[in-house]
Amino acid sequence: MGTLTKVAERRQVREGSPLVVEINETKILLYNINGQYYASARGCPHMGAPLDEGACAGTEVICVWHHWSFDLNTGKCTSNPYAPEDLKIYPVTVQGNELWIEI
Ligand code: FES
Repeated sequence: MGTLTKVAERRQVREGSPLVVEINETKILLYNINGQYYASARGCPHMGAPLDEGACAGTEVICVWHHWSFDLNTGKCTSNPYAPEDLKIYPVTVQGNELWIEI
């Protein structure tokens, strides 16, 4: 089991605009999708593109470099069945107005 860390207030994470946070020098993206919060690694597992420069479609994030898409629930690549690595996903816990993630 990982460590729960407070990363942001809910109001800081706007829909359609992921928030970059950093924990122990690891950059993590927080997403607000229809009032549900998700967290992933910032870097695309393909070649490291910053996923906050991509786009979201439903609960998928689409990489700006080669357009691979990743499910924010599972981290699985939904556009390339041969993707060698999943996107790292972090569980998000909402406590009042605070967002905590487990790393
Ligand atoms: S770097 Fe993201 S799909 Fe290639």
